[in-house]
Amino acid sequence: MSVEHAAALIRAGKLVAFPTETVYGLGANAFDSAAVERIFTAKGRPHTSPLIVHVDSIEMARALAACWPPAAETLARRYWPGPLTLVVPKRPEIPDIVTAGLPTVGLRMPAHPLALELIRAAGVPIAGPSANRFTELSPTTAGHVAESLADYVLDGGPARVGIESTVLSLVGSPVLLRPGVIPLPEIEALIGPVETAAAPAPGAHASPGMHPRHYRPATPLYLLDPGERPPEGNGAFLRIGQEMPLDPLEYAAVLYETLHRLDAQRLDWIAVERPPEAPEWAGVLDRLRRAAG
Ligand code: TXA
Ligand code: MG
Repeated sequence: MSVEHAAALIRAGKLVAFPTETVYGLGANAFDSAAVERIFTAKGRPHTSPLIVHVDSIEMARALAACWPPAAETLARRYWPGPLTLVVPKRPEIPDIVTAGLPTVGLRMPAHPLALELIRAAGVPIAGPSANRFTELSPTTAGHVAESLADYVLDGGPARVGIESTVLSLVGSPVLLRPGVIPLPEIEALIGPVETAAAPAPGAHASPGMHPRHYRPATPLYLLDPGERPPEGNGAFLRIGQEMPLDPLEYAAVLYETLHRLDAQRLDWIAVERPPEAPEWAGVLDRLRRAAG
């Protein structure tokens, strides 16, 4: 019932916040430039930042890609539906506004039954960034989505993965644009060596997801080395294996929920123990670095 309603809204050019396993997305018909334009306006997102296009199958992804390299097929078969976005050359049917004028598109098949039902019922791929205003924390529950952002919020419960997808470019030799919960060595075992994108200069366009001010809570957040003491005053200290889980996947699953909750408490600071520089922690560490600024 609610999925049918949401799908009708997508077909009518409206914006629907929808659940995925990573974070909630703010979706529009990927073929409808005017609807996609409204995503940028609602989020206050710069037009230089390309959107991910969500698909319900590998077939739909292939139909949107001008080139679907063997590595894309291998990774899609292994990880889709799941938290991996593949950047490949795009077909002209995808409007330029979706990809910020880039000749490439980020494609992902999300692992949430409501997201897949929504794409199927709408009958079109759904362009969608995370359903938060630009630079704010991504939503991991329907309640986190600001009411003014979407025409409708489809509630699919709390996000299971909890941080945004791994973004991997397969345009030329593979490049990791954004780490997520999939450890890089696991991907390399399937497709060979993957370069890691260097942090770009401010305003750079090549890997816009590396924008340093993404994912920031309103409360100042400090990343502390193990054993380092938190500041004086009224704050929250998040230690690994104490206030926060010891396991990196469990940690990722509760990270944004925890930051959303603490942010609402108007503390002076949030201090977070720095996770180890290990592949399983790369996604969490990346988001914490950005949150700390
Ligand atoms: O888990 C996720 O990826 C969530 C859910 C909703 O799918 N979406 C998400 O979207 O995090 P967003 O817009 O917040 O982040 C998309 C990332 C950005 O880092 C963007 O730069 C990158 O994907 N991206 C998208 N298309 C790209 C392209 N053609 N080339 C390079 N990077 C691209
Ligand atoms: Mg985002």
